Order: sequence, then C-alpha cells, then structure tokens
Amino acid sequence: MQPDTRRYTALITGCSRGIGLAIARAIAGSCRRLFIVGRDEKQLQAASAQLICDEVIILAGDITKTQFREDIKARVDALGGINLLVNNAGLSDFSAFVEQSPESIAALLDINLLAPISLTQLLLPQLQQASTAQVINIGSILGYIGHPGYAAYCASKFGLRGFTEALARELSDSHIRVRLFSPRATKTDLNSPAALELNRQLGNTEDSAEDVAKHFLAFLERKEQEYRMGFAEGLFTKVNQMLPFVVSRHMKKQLPKIRLALSVKGIGKDGNNV
Ligand SMILES: NC(=O)c1ccc[n+]([C@@H]2O[C@H](COP(=O)([O-])OP(=O)(O)OC[C@H]3O[C@@H](n4cnc5c(N)ncnc54)[C@H](OP(=O)(O)O)[C@@H]3O)[C@@H](O)[C@H]2O)c1
Repeated sequence: MQPDTRRYTALITGCSRGIGLAIARAIAGSCRRLFIVGRDEKQLQAASAQLICDEVIILAGDITKTQFREDIKARVDALGGINLLVNNAGLSDFSAFVEQSPESIAALLDINLLAPISLTQLLLPQLQQASTAQVINIGSILGYIGHPGYAAYCASKFGLRGFTEALARELSDSHIRVRLFSPRATKTDLNSPAALELNRQLGNTEDSAEDVAKHFLAFLERKEQEYRMGFAEGLFTKVNQMLPFVVSRHMKKQLPKIRLALSVKGIGKDGNNV
C-alpha cells in the first residue's frame, strides 16, 4: 500500500493569483483539504480549477474585516481544523513617504501586519489540536532592509518578522512551528510600473511566482526558522544587520535612480501605487 502523502490541511490567504496561487499549486497534492482565501470569488474559482487536491474550499472575503476572519474560523472549526496556515495576502506601495495618504498607510499595515496577526491568533486553538502544525508568514527581503520608497511596506514586513520571531519563541516548547519565508522581487500583479522601473534601474533580479513556490515547498519540508530568497539578497540583509552604515551609504548613492523610478506614474494591476 502506498503511504498517504497528503499530510496537510492548509489555509492560504491571498490565493487567487501571484505567489499564493503558485504555492497552492505546489502543495495541493500534499493536502487532504485546502482552504483558499481572497476577496474575488470568481478569481478563487478559477484558481481552484487549477488545484489538484481532494477538496478545495473557497473562502471569499476581505481578511482585514473582523467578521470575515470569524467566518473563516467558524468554517475551519466545522471542518475539523488545519495544520498549516500560510499568511500570504498582502499589498505593496512604492512611493515617496511624504506622498502616501494616511488611509493608504493604514490599509497597508492592516493587510500586511494586523490581519495575519489576528488570523493566527484566531486559528491558534485549531492548530494546537493538530499533532504537529505550522504557521508560515510570507515576509519580504524588505522585512530586513529599510529601503527608500518603501517606508510603510518595510514597517509592515519588519513588524511581521518581529511577530514571527516572538511567537515562534513563545511556542517553542509546543508542537507548533512559526516560521518566516521571505521572497525577493517577484513578477506578480503586486508591483506597480514605478516598482518595476525601480527593479530595472537597480538591476534587481525578479523571480517567477513558480520559482518562489518551489523554494517554499523545499522550506516547508525543512526545519530552519526562516528563509530568504536569493544569495545576494540574503548576504545584503546580513551586511545590513552587521554594518548598516555600509548599506545606508550605498542606498544614498542609489537615490537618484530611486527618485527616477518614484516619478513613474501608473497603477499596478492590483491597484497599488497611484
Ligand atoms: N511580488 C513581490 O515582488 C513580492 C516580494 C516580496 C514579498 N512579497 C509578498 O508576497 C505576498 C504575496 O504577494 P504577491 O506578489 O503574490 O501579490 P499579488 O499577486 O498582488 O496577490 C495578492 C493576493 O492577496 C489577495 N488579497 C489582497 N488583499 C486582500 C484582502 N484584504 N483580503 C483577502 N485577500 C487579499 C489578492 O486577492 P484579491 O485581490 O482578490 O483579494 C491576491 O490573491 C505578499 O505578502 C507580498 O508582500 C511579494
């Protein structure tokens, strides 16, 4: 008899496209049941059709809303819980800090930081009932490096990294692992024309969502606490931790290119960066 390899009952937020959908495709075969979350029900249905999994449950709604998070919990409870939570949904905003509206900053912190914290807290009793469980938060290389044009985004991803580290330590004598997976620039709808121009100006490597998902799958099966995509980016984050003034000096030299990119107008496919 073949061993049953479908060891996950997983919930992934931000699953209708981009990195979330690629991760869902990559882990679907290892899941008994997969809950996929996003705001657009039609897009989730299209996503679901691409997932080879015994059972896919679509949960359509806005995870920044308390009621929707309660609905998620009720549905997950009714179906016997999960043993893997992937907090992936997020948005980005590459723009001069002085030009960001208080509303857009609040929305960004809400989706990137408060929603994953609140959802994790709500689903923790479920995760505690599983024999082993994981929470994986999707961070960013910009959760390690303060980058001009990304002040609010960096604040959200630094915050998510701090949350992950603290909760992992709080639960370190339990069977729940809380870990951080941090992509570098990735070709998805998240990035506005200005952000794409920044990557071009600075020569930043852009991964495909499928590449990111492959690395995620490998990370899922290993034990390390965190993973950063890209050798050069990983090294840069370490230099930033040990010798921040070196990175500050480098970024100061890059400011003309960064300002040029910031001047590019246009809205991302996700509505980011007006
Ligand atoms: N792309 C990059 O360059 C990059 C680099 C580093 C880290 N990341 C991180 O990777 C994660 C995924 O990004 P991505 O590039 O895949 O973005 P994306 O292509 O824009 O996808 C974002 C997903 O989140 C969902 N979503 C957004 N707001 C939501 C809300 N309020 N409630 C429920 N779902 C919501 C979207 O669906 P709906 O719009 O239908 O709700 C969509 O499925 C994010 O946390 C991002 O910060 C991305």
